[in-house]
Amino acid sequence: MKPKVLIGITGGIAAYKVAEITSQLVKAKVNVRVVMTEAATKFITPLTFSALSQQKVLTSIFPNSPSGEKDVIYPHLYPATEADAFVVIPATANAIAKLANGFGDDIVCCSALSIKSDCKRIFCPAMNVQMWEQAVVRENVKKLNQFGWHQIGPEKGRLACGTSGYGRMSSPSAITQIILSSIF
Ligand SMILES: Cc1cc2nc3c(=O)[nH]c(=O)nc-3n(C[C@H](O)[C@H](O)[C@H](O)COP(=O)(O)O)c2cc1C
Repeated sequence: MKPKVLIGITGGIAAYKVAEITSQLVKAKVNVRVVMTEAATKFITPLTFSALSQQKVLTSIFPNSPSGEKDVIYPHLYPATEADAFVVIPATANAIAKLANGFGDDIVCCSALSIKSDCKRIFCPAMNVQMWEQAVVRENVKKLNQFGWHQIGPEKGRLACGTSGYGRMSSPSAITQIILSSIF
C-alpha cells in the first residue's frame, strides 16, 4: 500500500512551491492529500493540488454540503487520522503559533490535532526575517520542536518581500527528500 502524506498549506508567499513538492511525491508513488487554510487559497488555488494529487482538497472544517463520505462529514478527522506523515508547507508565523498551542479553528491546525501519535510531523517555516526573529515566534518554534515536530529550514537568502536574511523556505527538492526519507 502507498504511504500516505497529508500536506497542510498555510498562507505564505512560498505556497506556490508546494505544487512542485506535491508533484514529486506523487511521482514517487506517495498517496498525497492536501488541506489548505483560507489564507493559503489566496496564494494558490485548491484546483492545482486536486489536479496534481488527483484527490479532493479540503479547505474548511465545515463543509458546505455534508455527504456520506467520511472526509466530507468529518474533515477535521479525515484524512488526518490516516496519514503516515503530516507536513505543513509553508508554515506561517500564525500557523506555527496555532500548532504550538493546540488550536483547532482551521483545517490545517485541526488536522494536526487528529494525526496518530506515530505520524511524522514536519513543518517548513517561511516568513520575513523580522517575523522569524520575533521572540514569540522563536518561542513557538521551540515548543513545536519539543512536541516532536521535525523542522526543515528556513534558509538564509533573498526573501520575496525584497529583504534578505533567515526566513526563506528550504528548496522544494530538499523538502521532498526529507519527506520521502521519513516514510520509506
Ligand atoms: C503578500 C503576502 C505574503 C505573506 N507571506 C507570508 C509569509 O511568507 N509568512 C508568514 O508567516 N505570513 C505571511 N503573510 C501573512 C499571512 O498570510 C497571515 O498571517 C495569515 O493570517 C496566515 O494565515 P494562515 O496561517 O491561517 O494560513 C503574508 C501576507 C501577504 C498579504
